[in-house]
Amino acid sequence: MNDAISLGLKFNFEKGTLSILNQQRLPHHEIWIEIDSVAEMIQAIQSLKVRGAPLIGVAAAFALAQSALKDTPPDALATEAQALYEARPTAVNLMICMDRMKKVLREDFSKSQLVQTAREIYLEDIRLCDRIAENGAGLIQHGDSVLTHCNTGGLATAGVGTALGILRKAHDQGKKIHVFVDETRPLLQGGRLTTWELHKLNIPFTLITDSMAGHVMAEGRVQKVFVGADRIATNGDFANKIGTYAVAVLAHYHRIPFYVAAPYTTVDPDCASGQDIPIEQRNAEEVVGASSFAPSAVYNPAFDVTPAQLVRGWVLDKAAYSPQEIQAGALQKRI
Ligand code: MRU
Repeated sequence: MNDAISLGLKFNFEKGTLSILNQQRLPHHEIWIEIDSVAEMIQAIQSLKVRGAPLIGVAAAFALAQSALKDTPPDALATEAQALYEARPTAVNLMICMDRMKKVLREDFSKSQLVQTAREIYLEDIRLCDRIAENGAGLIQHGDSVLTHCNTGGLATAGVGTALGILRKAHDQGKKIHVFVDETRPLLQGGRLTTWELHKLNIPFTLITDSMAGHVMAEGRVQKVFVGADRIATNGDFANKIGTYAVAVLAHYHRIPFYVAAPYTTVDPDCASGQDIPIEQRNAEEVVGASSFAPSAVYNPAFDVTPAQLVRGWVLDKAAYSPQEIQAGALQKRI
């Protein structure tokens, strides 16, 4: 296998050609950008041209593999790996992938071994997504309407996605489902990206603003909520796109089961609770945008933390876990 081809990322393992689908420009423009250096990949990750917790880990691994194919010496590769590791602070997948690449650099370095590890990271993410989809699809019944937040599909992973992968699987199983898509202020990953994916997959959906979630729940139009995660603490608290916590509180109030879906590479064994998760702060322009707001002080945390007590189930690649299993330490072991 010489080519890795995902919805938002392409890499040739021999030539080192690497490109990303510019997610800033979706849904109206499908523009592929060639990436030719680690610095360019860091810029793409930080500007969310490439995004989603699992995908930024894979993309960073490919950028380092590309650099190795250009005969960058191991010391310089180690510096680049650290810069990629630090590109965004909340999604732990990026750090876990870079730790795997750094281990090769430290212990077993050859160009081909580093490229091989990037290949394994990519193939593993596809497999993990498939398992999450299988473990979660059974939670969805024929006729369900499911609300989701942000984008957790093929654009956010190397495979079918996490929460969106589950919805896709249920749809492929022939279940009639409907998806309520939160637009996901301020960068509209739901409105721009999830709708783009659902449209391509032919899955019926309705776009709502984030502030409408409570209303559609009160109307009895939502049976389940499925979201992804950027980092899961071992007590089951998790960080995900800003607005997720509000959705979880609303679901709890309306007694709607709320599920989080992620691969084991999103679980941080060093975070005992959500309080340990660093939250990325982003610039004010993302909130103010091209709008006509009066000049304002702006706060722009990119993620929030949902406490475990609001979660009905954690759908991982190994299994779907109940609150009792999480309390008994299911996430504390290497899963
Ligand atoms: O800032 P983003 O767009 O990278 O944030 C992405 C999310 O919060 C996703 O919900 C999360 O990474 C899960 S993706 C499978």
